[in-house]
Amino acid sequence: MFGDRRLTTVWTMACIGSGRLCARVEKLCQLGHNLQARRKASFVKFKELNLHQNARILPESCQAGRRAPGYSRHCRAISSMRTQQPGSQPQPQSVDPYVLLYDDLKHIYEDIREELQKNTKIPELQSIATYYFGGQGKALRPMVAILMARAINYHLYKENSLLAPQRQVAMISEMIHSASLIHDDVIDQSDIRRGKPSVNALWNHKKVAMAGDFILAVASMMIARLRNNDVTLTLSQVVTDLVQGEFMQLGSKETENERFAHYLTKTYRKTASLIANSVKATAMLAGADDALAEVVFQYGRNVGLAFQLVDDLLDFVSSSDAMGKPTAADLKLGLATAPVLFACEKYPELNPMIMRRFQEPGDVERAFELVHKSQGLEQTRFLARNHCIEAVRHASSLVESPYQKGLTVITDLVLNRMK
Ligand code: FPP
Ligand code: MG
Repeated sequence: MFGDRRLTTVWTMACIGSGRLCARVEKLCQLGHNLQARRKASFVKFKELNLHQNARILPESCQAGRRAPGYSRHCRAISSMRTQQPGSQPQPQSVDPYVLLYDDLKHIYEDIREELQKNTKIPELQSIATYYFGGQGKALRPMVAILMARAINYHLYKENSLLAPQRQVAMISEMIHSASLIHDDVIDQSDIRRGKPSVNALWNHKKVAMAGDFILAVASMMIARLRNNDVTLTLSQVVTDLVQGEFMQLGSKETENERFAHYLTKTYRKTASLIANSVKATAMLAGADDALAEVVFQYGRNVGLAFQLVDDLLDFVSSSDAMGKPTAADLKLGLATAPVLFACEKYPELNPMIMRRFQEPGDVERAFELVHKSQGLEQTRFLARNHCIEAVRHASSLVESPYQKGLTVITDLVLNRMK
């Protein structure tokens, strides 16, 4: 998909000076997923999805034609036809995903807390494990998962409903994310997250690490309850990616080329894999075929990469108050993210600083200044924007619906967020 010439040109432009590298790394990022996708997937039958008492099952008649060849092309054609048909449902020009999914999301943190609490009677473990589910988060992952689930249900069956197992995936996604943040806060020794003391600032490190494991264990039980091997494999891949991404972050590479490749692979594993595989899981639960699951995965992968690029950018431009966590934190942790890597092209004096992980007095301040003097921030935003364009391209191959439009709106939120 990324082999075509037009896209290579986009990446070349995006990377400004690191074009060949980015195109190559795109392929690298793809590799892990393709290996997984090549395994023969056997999708569950839609009528077997009644795993939850409240599961809303879509009509059987809607199953027809879900594996037609040339599927996404066909869907795009249908999508444009639909907009021209007299009497077809008027679609809102712009949708607010938070409003659109209000009912789906309003109890999501409560439901996660309940799931965690019912699996332990140890009050302190309950408190630590539920601490990051207080509702201060953006709920980006559940929102994207549910939007995609609904967009796919509409795409395949013209149904405006959400399956209970798909909502479970949204919860699982947020739980894996929070478990990783808990571990991350211990590793980074951070004091503050989402404007509150971070979990490790309030409780003993050993207990905090175990609470992170506990969340992951409960999420694993929820995955098992979905009784779908392909979904289990897809969501388990996320955890291996997260650990490897975090592990990669602890190391540095010698050459500029290697460094950018390392950074992008790390970014995919640390951030994009969770979003990509979660949306893919919701599509698999709807009975999507391999080609459609791939479109969905690519949407999530691009949104995830854009999200992290913007996060890395905000670390240089946003105030700690807005972010709810300290700024220039990455440099202080010794991390060279996209803005620094781009800045390096103009200011090679950053190279030795990167190698010593900004440890010498004055390194953090000097690197911060050079990033601002360079085009690094603009180039990072440009790259993020290109990932958003790619995400929109994938979303637009789905049948038009408010949820499909919501998927596009998400890319704007990701690109223009201030925190
Ligand atoms: C935040 O990064 C951290 C992550 C996105 C993933 C961290 C992953 C692990 C610690 C591996 C273990 C995973 C599990 C599931 C137990 P950041 O430090 O760049 O962002 P921040 O500024 O929000 O802290
Ligand atoms: Mg951190």
